[in-house]
Amino acid sequence: MCGIVGYIGHRDASSIVLEGLKKLEYRGYDSAGLALYDGQKLNVTKTKGKVATLENKLLTTGNTNSSIGIGHTRWATHGEPNDKNSHPHYSNSGELVIIHNGIIENYDSIRKELIKRGYKFKSDTDTEVLINLIEEIQNKTQLKLGEAVQLALKEIVGAYAIAVFDIKKPNELVVAKLGSPLAVGIGKNEYFIGSDASPFLEFTNRAIYLEDGQVAAIRLNKPIKIWEIDNNKPTPVVVQELKMSLEATEKGGYDHFMLKEIYEQPSAIRDTYRGRLLTDEKIIKMAGIEDNIEKFINADRIIIVACGTSWHAGLVAEYILEDLTRTPVEVEYASEFRYRNPIITSQDVIIAISQSGETADTLAAIKIAKENSAFVFGVCNVVGSTIARETHAGAYTHAGPEIGVASTKAFTTQITVLTLIALKLGLAKKTINNKTFEELITELNQIPEKLEETLNCNKIAMDIAKVYKNSQNCLFLGRGYNFPVALEGALKLKEISYIHAEGYPAAEMKHGPIALIDENMPIIVVAINKGHYEKTVSNIQEIKARKGKVIAVVTKGDVTVKELANHVIEIPETLETLSPLLTTIPLQLFSYHTAVLLNKNVDQPRNLAKSVTVE
Ligand code: F6R
Repeated sequence: MCGIVGYIGHRDASSIVLEGLKKLEYRGYDSAGLALYDGQKLNVTKTKGKVATLENKLLTTGNTNSSIGIGHTRWATHGEPNDKNSHPHYSNSGELVIIHNGIIENYDSIRKELIKRGYKFKSDTDTEVLINLIEEIQNKTQLKLGEAVQLALKEIVGAYAIAVFDIKKPNELVVAKLGSPLAVGIGKNEYFIGSDASPFLEFTNRAIYLEDGQVAAIRLNKPIKIWEIDNNKPTPVVVQELKMSLEATEKGGYDHFMLKEIYEQPSAIRDTYRGRLLTDEKIIKMAGIEDNIEKFINADRIIIVACGTSWHAGLVAEYILEDLTRTPVEVEYASEFRYRNPIITSQDVIIAISQSGETADTLAAIKIAKENSAFVFGVCNVVGSTIARETHAGAYTHAGPEIGVASTKAFTTQITVLTLIALKLGLAKKTINNKTFEELITELNQIPEKLEETLNCNKIAMDIAKVYKNSQNCLFLGRGYNFPVALEGALKLKEISYIHAEGYPAAEMKHGPIALIDENMPIIVVAINKGHYEKTVSNIQEIKARKGKVIAVVTKGDVTVKELANHVIEIPETLETLSPLLTTIPLQLFSYHTAVLLNKNVDQPRNLAKSVTVE
């Protein structure tokens, strides 16, 4: 899951590629590099570290003059992050250069073959093997670059989005894709390449999304040629008009993308239900569900597959779907599901949840479900992403670009879409009556406003973070609908502040985690006045008896918990079913402020990447 950028045209390729890399840093940031051709010489500049380090290095080398360039921001898979393993990689002749996002699984055997034929390798990467394989094929066959790339890819097992150029033909970029995303931006006498459209949005809103198994030759002043890697079949070039704005991908005055995205949640949720939740008519319109309503109604069960935060949204959805539709729901880690020979039938409906729409494990789970004739429905944020295309039908979350690596608005908008689905199905199956339906849609319509009010807890969350920022451990507890919220709260804290945190159902505490509690342990408890409030109050008593520090998220006006807890954060009153949409917010803000106070890189935590396109 690296970011790739390319340019060919009449502008200065170095600045376009460099700026593009900055926009794609969310995909990986342990090393970066770019390759330019100045008409005489291939200039490759690369370094361990972030794009800013690359920019500095480029200033000292002064190698910037070029109308063709490719760049890469890396999240290491093969070979540790260092200068030599950074991309771009070039062939032994120094004439072919490549950037690659993905993994070549059979690279070792190809590398050994190439070594026998005299090739030498400077890096430990799978990518350097591929560029030399392309060169070997070119030398043997005298084929054009696109065809040599195609033949090389036929020998490859794995996943890739690549861009290659040959300094002997500097008017052409060749790109190909299998399993990793690749977009081509079309300008006037110029072309752009990106892992997504953000590197070129300021120049053009016309783009082609390459499909899996396709290779394309992008030549200056000529139409793009796309064909299938397997069978040479030419494919029609489908140009899309993009509607996303560049502004939406920038920070807009906030210190970090994460904070901006936390604050965007009221508008993001409005965008999620806009045009779908029609409170006046008392209906929910969702074409993806309506067109397939029989499949959902007759489903023996719903299996949700996802990873990380999306998996937590799936757990919340399990409570909501089972309650409102009475269809059994199972929530599976996609990475486990894909490898454990799961029982799937044509009577199952699979819901795949993914913000990026590119997560490799979720994609693999979808493939298995389809092979077993199940109906697969996607809940994705990124429009046109691979999961959105690979599923039979779906519903977008419309959260807008999420750049902060820690997922925030993706989570609440996923829950919103899944709630809309549950409500629609509940009514269709008659497992809920009109009164319950109307009560829930009326309240859902008020959630953005209540969320705005909830965001007022920002200062309190910061003050609490100041008290506990040096803790070694932290527990998050919740019951029912708010148990997955506890899991999500713990994930947020550990991924951005590197404090060890665990989420538990509150009642499970006494089966083990209670042993951890002492006067140094902060325990964040979601204790709203719904569900099993009294039981949660008892759990808080148990913590206090062991001198633990309680930070409680309570309903506005709460008296009982306020007397017990060390700190409280109030949220507005809402229905239990919808409460995760509000209780999540203080937990996100607490993690955010803790990480900021600890001087951590909030938007790009160590070892993580926004989109996990490798397993
Ligand atoms: C956590 C986080 C990850 C993702 C996970 C799945 O903040 O962002 O756990 O939720 O990698 O990603 P998507 O939703 O893109 O499939």
